[in-house]
Amino acid sequence: MAVEAVVPPRPAAAKEVSPGRAWWIEPALTVVCYSAFVIYATWSVFDQVNVVFAPYVSPFFSTWLGFGLIKVPIFGILIPILAVIPLGLRGSCYYYRKSYFRSFFWDPPACAIQELKRGRYYGETRFPWVLNNYHRYFLLLSLVVLLFLWADVVRAFAFHGSFFIGLGSLVMLVNVVLLSLYTFTCHSFRYLMGGRIDRFSRVPAGRIWQRIVILLNRANPRHGAWAWYSMFSVALTDVYIRLLMAGVIHEPRVIF
Ligand code: FES
Repeated sequence: MAVEAVVPPRPAAAKEVSPGRAWWIEPALTVVCYSAFVIYATWSVFDQVNVVFAPYVSPFFSTWLGFGLIKVPIFGILIPILAVIPLGLRGSCYYYRKSYFRSFFWDPPACAIQELKRGRYYGETRFPWVLNNYHRYFLLLSLVVLLFLWADVVRAFAFHGSFFIGLGSLVMLVNVVLLSLYTFTCHSFRYLMGGRIDRFSRVPAGRIWQRIVILLNRANPRHGAWAWYSMFSVALTDVYIRLLMAGVIHEPRVIF
């Protein structure tokens, strides 16, 4: 006897799946937050004002090459060029891809809900989506950027040769910790740390690599959360330093 598989029709609307479910809230909020961040970041980077208030520097302007001895400011045209690195990392990030395909293109907007329109699927073989294949390279470049951000944070705890703590030092520290969590929970970073290893027992220091991968596997499910927190913290750190520059706020500072 022939057995015929019964495929239920795909629901066309959220109501058919879960009556009363406000599935549109998440994509709508995502559109608002991502758009606000991109507009603010673009304005900040092209504003022609270097967001620096000694000893703080905005994460959009992590500009000092060298560590105290040789300082080479690379303002101007290089800032927008360097901004491509974090932008490329986030734009090609697996979490952001899911997020912006859902919210901006409704492709589909939520689980079990029909796409806005069905076209031919080309995967990531065409511009601009083909750029997503370069995620691992954006990650490598971002690791270098992260080093500079950490160097900026170390400097934020020193003022006129003395150890110093200001609210801004702590704001910058929290920001770079969140950025590090976002970067180190990246899927490509996990692969970089041990994804290619078939048997840990057969490679040098295999036990260490195994431990690192286990740790990253545990942390990875929170990648989406770190993506959000770090996005907000970057913008808020920049806002905070701008407010200090404008004299709108005066922060508590302790110099030892
Ligand atoms: S930064 Fe999100 S997956 Fe790599």
